[in-house]
Amino acid sequence: MARYIVCEETELPVGEMKLFKAGNTKVLVYHLEDGFYATQPSCTHVLAPLSRGKIIDGHFIRCPFHHAEFDIRTGEVHQWANFPPGIQLLNVVRSEKALKTHPTMLEDGKVSVEV
Ligand code: FES
Repeated sequence: MARYIVCEETELPVGEMKLFKAGNTKVLVYHLEDGFYATQPSCTHVLAPLSRGKIIDGHFIRCPFHHAEFDIRTGEVHQWANFPPGIQLLNVVRSEKALKTHPTMLEDGKVSVEV
C-alpha cells in the first residue's frame, strides 16, 4: 500500500468527481458533502468509464451505460444494471459486483489516496 497526493482540496468542489493517477493506478476521486472518496474508475458491469456517469442523491455514482448505481463511500451495489430493457440477459453472466474503493485523506489542503 502506498499513499499519493492527487490534488488540492480546492481543485475539486463538492459534488464533483475527477480522474487522477495515484502512482500507476487510475482512481476516480469524488468530493461529497462529508469529504473525499475514491473508487476504481470503471464500472464492474462491463467497464464503462464512471467519470462520465452522474453523482445522484449525494453519494451514489450512476454508470452512464446501463445505470448500475454504487455507493461511493463503500463501493456497494445500490442498484444493478437495469437499462435498457433486456440488459438482464447480459446480467446472467455479469452479476453484481461492488466497486473497489481506496482510503482517501485530506491533510493541509491536499487530497491523498491510498492504493
Ligand atoms: S457498464 Fe456500468 S452498468 Fe453496464
